[in-house]
Amino acid sequence: MIPFLDLKRQYGKIKPEIDAAVLSVLERQAFILGEEVQRLEKSIAETFDAGVAIGVSSGTDALLISLMALGVREGDEVITSPFTFFATAGAIHRLGAVPVFVDILPETYNVDLDALEKAITKNTACIIPVHLFGLMADMEAIREVADRRGIPVVEDAAQAIGAWQVIEGKKRYAGTVGTTGCFSFFPSKNLGGAGDGGMVVTRDEALAERIRRLRVHGSHPKYYHHLVGVNGRLDEIQAAVLNVKFPHLEDWTLKRREHAERYMALFRESDMEAFGVQPPREPAGFFHVYNQFTARFPNRDGLLKYLKDRGIGAAIYYPLPLHLQPCFAYLGYREGELPNAESAAREVLSLPVFPELSEEEQEMVVREIRRFYETEA
Ligand SMILES: Cc1ncc(COP(=O)(O)O)c(C=O)c1O
Repeated sequence: MIPFLDLKRQYGKIKPEIDAAVLSVLERQAFILGEEVQRLEKSIAETFDAGVAIGVSSGTDALLISLMALGVREGDEVITSPFTFFATAGAIHRLGAVPVFVDILPETYNVDLDALEKAITKNTACIIPVHLFGLMADMEAIREVADRRGIPVVEDAAQAIGAWQVIEGKKRYAGTVGTTGCFSFFPSKNLGGAGDGGMVVTRDEALAERIRRLRVHGSHPKYYHHLVGVNGRLDEIQAAVLNVKFPHLEDWTLKRREHAERYMALFRESDMEAFGVQPPREPAGFFHVYNQFTARFPNRDGLLKYLKDRGIGAAIYYPLPLHLQPCFAYLGYREGELPNAESAAREVLSLPVFPELSEEEQEMVVREIRRFYETEA
């Protein structure tokens, strides 16, 4: 049995520290916006040179509150990728704004800049690039296009904490190039809590102040409301767990990268390309953090079943692009309209890549994939 993700292995290594951190919150009985949240906000702001960081209740709420702070409202258009987790577009829809989906690039799975530029209209209120699987969308180019038109950019960095791109000779971290950046601490993320959690970062002080208010119902001072916000706080227990994990993040990221490189070497050794397998790509000047190791596989559904039958975990992110989701039928997209997103949804499969995965397990995964193509496909 090789699990797709095994959080118990990670917990086993840091159990005393995690347990003590959680217990200390219980001892203090201070659960809302206390010292743990502040400490995590400071760590993230400083480590990634991110300006101000504001802890929120989830990655979804990080997106929602960012859009609210920017004044996105009914009828506004927000351009994003159709090949992402639902939350990206859900946040847009929740505000009565219109998700405008543009196609992705087949190699990086991130938004196609030409398509994005063509989709801009006078009603475009925001752009949400998604740094899918842990690889940044080209923020240098996106920012340039957005700045020229004065359109804010909300980075969906839910899967990409610690990823970077070199811009003007400097490493710029995911989430820190746009107007705001949104992180998720969902348990399966590279920095995962013991439940839901998220963070917004921004360099704009006035925007940061709005975001801080929006996460407490728009209240400021307490019980006085100039804004209507949400109950969107990161809680102390989550922050305590994340503060224990945060110092390990760099190490865990390097492990994920090692695993990705090993998969690619094993793919080469077993001549996977001859079977039509296409591994992920890391463009020059980009640092992929491999929240997922996602490749294209011919007969993907057959392979998934074959692996499952042999106790090997694998998963499809994502089987149906957002422009074809039933709830967005009212937007009027047709099948075939965003072909790169649609072919990715048919062909991709993510393999286990969590930091604690062993070399032997990876070898077994690749051996079974090869066996599938030799015998079953
Ligand atoms: C790309 C993307 N955006 C947004 C989210 C939403 O984050 P959360 O689950 O913390 O609400 C996730 C993860 O779940 C995600 O992968």
